[in-house]
Amino acid sequence: MDPRDTAVLLPPPSGNHVVDGFFDCAEESAHYAFSVQLLLTQYATVVPWQTEGVAELGSGDARAIAHVVRAVPGLTVHGTDISATSVERARQTIAGLGVEDRYDVELGDFFAWAGSAAGSQVSTVIANPPYIPAPDGDILMPELWGGWYGNDLVLRLLKAGFDHLLVALPSYSDPAATLAVAGELGYQVANFLAMGLEFGAYSREPKVAEHIARLTAEGHGWAGDDSYVVAVALLTRSPQVQRDRSTELLRALQLPA
Ligand SMILES: C[S@@+](CC[C@H](N)C(=O)[O-])C[C@H]1O[C@@H](n2cnc3c(N)ncnc32)[C@H](O)[C@@H]1O
Repeated sequence: MDPRDTAVLLPPPSGNHVVDGFFDCAEESAHYAFSVQLLLTQYATVVPWQTEGVAELGSGDARAIAHVVRAVPGLTVHGTDISATSVERARQTIAGLGVEDRYDVELGDFFAWAGSAAGSQVSTVIANPPYIPAPDGDILMPELWGGWYGNDLVLRLLKAGFDHLLVALPSYSDPAATLAVAGELGYQVANFLAMGLEFGAYSREPKVAEHIARLTAEGHGWAGDDSYVVAVALLTRSPQVQRDRSTELLRALQLPA
């Protein structure tokens, strides 16, 4: 396809209210979707999505990636989500857009699927993973808890053995530590798209906002006054990629490189 065909619709404004049981942040989901679409099409010779398809950790209500599947011929996605409400909504979204033949979402833990025979057939994972840092998982939506620093899930993804990850990295979830681990495991940052976001309902929860303030003061990330930056990056172990953009990525996330 022509890489200029990158139109992704911004979902209707959510107002950032918390709707029971599924992730709802229109701007963040649209940035994730747009970035996945652009990076997959731009790096189609590096990332074998046309022959293998891709797996998704945490599809949510699927509004983000269902539009991408509809826009990108030949893209197939197998998603998982641990939230039953999300999976129910995802299936409705997918049916509504008529892409059931190329996008399915199963209920369960992504890492259980990754360890299965089906998981071993795919080398690319896309994810806007849970990344809310908090002392414990007793937060507005517990499924979004990313551990103390917020990067537990992306660290697990890096260690799961996939060659290509298109993953959202927020500035306040210790991205420097994440990228250090990625480098040790042989990943390079092929490219990324970064966007500033206001704190949404999940990061604004007082317990979370206070924790973010503590972590960033200790040098484990960056957050501004009620805002942060999210980058969706292509981390790859492909030898075809000769340029590592980790330094540029850290700078885009407002961190010293
Ligand atoms: C930040 S939301 C992203 C949703 C959607 N991809 C989007 O961008 O709109 C993260 C999703 O990951 C799901 N999740 C959390 N832990 C998971 C796990 N271990 N396996 C699969 N999904 C998980 C959550 O239920 C949630 O729907």
